[in-house]
Amino acid sequence: MKNSRNDSQEESIIPPVLPTYARMDIAIDHGKGVYAYDQDGREYLDFGCGIGVNNLGFCHPELVRAITEQATKVWHTSNIYRIPGQERLAKRLVDNTFADTVFFTNSGAEAVECAMKMARKYHYENESPERYRIITFEGCFHGRTLATIAASGQEKLTHGFGPMMDGFDQVPFHRDMTRVEEAITHETAAIMIEPVMGEGGIKPVSSDNMRILRELCDKHGILLIFDEIQCGMGRTERLFAYQHSPVSPDILCAAKGIGGGFPLGACLATERVGRAMTTGSHGSTYGGNPMAMAVGNRVLDIMLADGFFDQVEKMSYDLRKGLLTLRGKFPDVIELVRGVGLMLGLKVTVDPPVFVAKALQHGLLVVRAADNMIRLLPPLIIEKKHIDEAIGKLEKICAEIEKELPKNLPDSE
Ligand SMILES: Cc1ncc(COP(=O)(O)O)c(C=O)c1O
Repeated sequence: MKNSRNDSQEESIIPPVLPTYARMDIAIDHGKGVYAYDQDGREYLDFGCGIGVNNLGFCHPELVRAITEQATKVWHTSNIYRIPGQERLAKRLVDNTFADTVFFTNSGAEAVECAMKMARKYHYENESPERYRIITFEGCFHGRTLATIAASGQEKLTHGFGPMMDGFDQVPFHRDMTRVEEAITHETAAIMIEPVMGEGGIKPVSSDNMRILRELCDKHGILLIFDEIQCGMGRTERLFAYQHSPVSPDILCAAKGIGGGFPLGACLATERVGRAMTTGSHGSTYGGNPMAMAVGNRVLDIMLADGFFDQVEKMSYDLRKGLLTLRGKFPDVIELVRGVGLMLGLKVTVDPPVFVAKALQHGLLVVRAADNMIRLLPPLIIEKKHIDEAIGKLEKICAEIEKELPKNLPDSE
């Protein structure tokens, strides 16, 4: 008998899967395109994408082909050998972004860890070892490792895991980012921000503010890190969200959509910064493995094809229009519509889990976020008919919620 088990009546048995998630009672058995099917064959229109991951929908035939072909060749070698798929994907990311070099990881948090190590090492190698602190923003989310929860500083993530790693200074998500300068000291190594905050409630940083942050970094000799794990890989009608603005970062973290559902992350950097990461300074057993590289390269083939982002832009326009119409019809349910591209959010007046559960009943998958937001992160391959279907479902959901809202009866005389 295992230590943790006993046969007494009042035993509380922990489930075999560590219960760190408040899971919904639905198990997706398979998916095709923009639709998911549960174990009973019920169909769901997927406007959540496994939280911004399945950007090309379920089982995209090109991705299935890429991974199947690779599966019959080689799955894993090691980073002690050359990995041709890695060289190719890195070169293509370099060719299509600000970056000169890429480190591959298996997840978003690892990409952020790499970025933070890089920032410290850059200053260390440039004779400023006192520069180790990173400025982050209230409400941000960078992952669940000890360093990334310290970076986010949110009590709901850090509770019980203290003492927190030192080296992070939190500032409000300012409307005017010039105020970030107040937090910069001689110990500051970098500013890290999500160009569109995801978990924090779909909050885009304006082009002006991106420029201000870049100027502050240049003025003080510190690095600018963009966490594009959720908002990157086509979500905002560009490969990366920063490409809407005139500025570029020194380091960028990608994950989620970059692997189309296969675990993959990446930390992109300029040559100036990347040079600090010398042989032996960082590593990963699986990062950049041949399977992930096969899918990653095929994801890029699809996204970089002519017209892909134009189509995302068109769909974004239609979806936003539909959502604004709904907002007009149900002002007591939807407070506002916010976001960029196909990363849109509805700020609702009810508890978000109530909305998400109702959506599930109507066969629509959506995801909650902070600030009472419902995130709509549909696959980038959606068509107009899917948008119409989603709006139709949302209309029914809003109508039901509206009926259930407590009535504001006129005051009696
Ligand atoms: C902006 C951002 N950064 C980092 C992460 C962490 O990524 P992962 O869960 O793959 O470690 C997430 C995940 O939601 C994210 O949205």
